[in-house]
Amino acid sequence: MSALIEVDDLVMRYPTPPSMGGRLALNGVSVSVQPGEFAVILGANGSGKSTLLRCIAAMLRPSAGSVRVDGQEMTRLRGRALAKARLALGMIFQHAHLVRRRSVLANVCCGTLGRHRTLATALGGLPRQELSHAQSCLDQVGLRSFAPQRAGTLSGGQAQRVSIARALAQRPRALLADEPVASLDPEAAEEIMRLLRRVSHEEGLGVLCVLHQPELARRYADRILGLRLGKLVFDERPGGVAAGTVGALYEGLAA
Ligand SMILES: Nc1ncnc2c1ncn2[C@@H]1O[C@H](COP(=O)(O)OP(=O)(O)O)[C@@H](O)[C@H]1O
Ligand SMILES: [Mg+2]
Repeated sequence: MSALIEVDDLVMRYPTPPSMGGRLALNGVSVSVQPGEFAVILGANGSGKSTLLRCIAAMLRPSAGSVRVDGQEMTRLRGRALAKARLALGMIFQHAHLVRRRSVLANVCCGTLGRHRTLATALGGLPRQELSHAQSCLDQVGLRSFAPQRAGTLSGGQAQRVSIARALAQRPRALLADEPVASLDPEAAEEIMRLLRRVSHEEGLGVLCVLHQPELARRYADRILGLRLGKLVFDERPGGVAAGTVGALYEGLAA
């Protein structure tokens, strides 16, 4: 089976601070994610987790190495071809970033705009089948009855579920989630983890998720990747990761 996301020997050096020759945020990282696989990245603040996700989504151009998504080399694409390839990746962040004054359904529909921008602008709306697709994405996150409600009225956990529905509305092949439960209470965090695992296993999406809770990673992930100082220090099934190995990710890093 070919990988959905294939990162090979990725190096990312930010140009700042120039006096020190830039900052090496990723130093030869290789990762692959299969369809239907739920992979979690652990690592201390500053270990390069967000940089890795941003390079995969081609929001950042890496200094060296390759990123293939669904077989396409992202680092070589430009313009429209890049915009199209990016649709394969749904993004989820710590905060849901919903438009608070718009309805829940309108927010989910934003996920389909990448595919329908011209039509949507021309007609002032979305094709009917896209509306029902957005509704079914809301169903998947258990919030169908919230469709007409203003997004600003939702709890943090509900808002994050809507942001997952918005990502699903884009019809992605993979989800990249950067600390999706960092602002949630424990129960809402569990709900989001269950949801991400379900879309991964049942819908066949590859999911790459950054977490700060090793214990959630152990219970939900198919694989755990450990990043330390820009290097991948382990990549194993949860059962194979010793507690000391996880602890070592966070030790001795005080600035
Ligand atoms: N835009 C940037 N310019 C310069 N350095 C950056 C930039 N973004 C991140 N960094 C640096 O790269 C390293 C990795 O950052 P990041 O990927 O955000 O880590 P994490 O998400 O694991 O906390 C850190 O040393 C951080 O200071
Ligand atoms: Mg980060």
